[in-house]
Amino acid sequence: MSAPIGIIGGTALANLAGVQGAATDANAPDTPFGRASGPRVAGRFAGREVCFVMRHGPGHRIAPHAINYRANIRALADAGCRQVIAVAAVGGIAPAMRPGRIVVPHQIVDYSWGRAHTFYDDPARGELDHVDFTDPYTPALRRALIRAAEQLGFDPARQAVHGVTQGPRLETAAEIDRMERDGCDIVGMTGMPEAGLAREAGLDYACAAVVVNKAAGRTGGLAIHAEIEATLAQGMHDVERLLETVLPAL
Ligand code: HPA
Repeated sequence: MSAPIGIIGGTALANLAGVQGAATDANAPDTPFGRASGPRVAGRFAGREVCFVMRHGPGHRIAPHAINYRANIRALADAGCRQVIAVAAVGGIAPAMRPGRIVVPHQIVDYSWGRAHTFYDDPARGELDHVDFTDPYTPALRRALIRAAEQLGFDPARQAVHGVTQGPRLETAAEIDRMERDGCDIVGMTGMPEAGLAREAGLDYACAAVVVNKAAGRTGGLAIHAEIEATLAQGMHDVERLLETVLPAL
């Protein structure tokens, strides 16, 4: 049996309906780093073994800064996953990052703080390694996501710099201006430390992001929440189709 593909569902993928023969953990798995956000759902989806974790936990209750990213990554690694696809809802900073668009980011700027961001925090656990993070997302996995999105006719953004803020509040217009000057194309709250931890754990990792709103100060007067509401359902649907298409190719 091949290794399951890990899927981390976020605001743009609250649940993975249609997992065949699903075996769900009785509880959120306990790891040396604490409990994961919620029970893992393991089973077959689109012909592949998958293991799904809800980043914000059941009922979408865990705020971005309070997520136990280490436990989520460790729980997927413990389930035998070698590859992880992270789904995320993001705001669009660059004009091309329009609401509804699927984006496969290639770079990260991390503005988050105070999160448990490494597995190397205890000398007793073993030797320190400074992992190479030049390319934070695994290129082959990114290519597979882009190809699948193209097959579906989605016109995905083939690269983007993903700025990661602390949340849970949205940003100020000046913060988005600064992020734009820094080169960020999209903004989300959960991209880090998740990607860095996946690298430390030796997992292939890529992100399928859905733009659900224009970022603060870019909305042309539209209320951000109204835009998110209007975009999210279609975004979730598109992400499910993307997963159905990409999984058999991995
Ligand atoms: N900012 C930060 N995170 C987000 C946004 C945003 O505008 N939209 C969705 N996630």
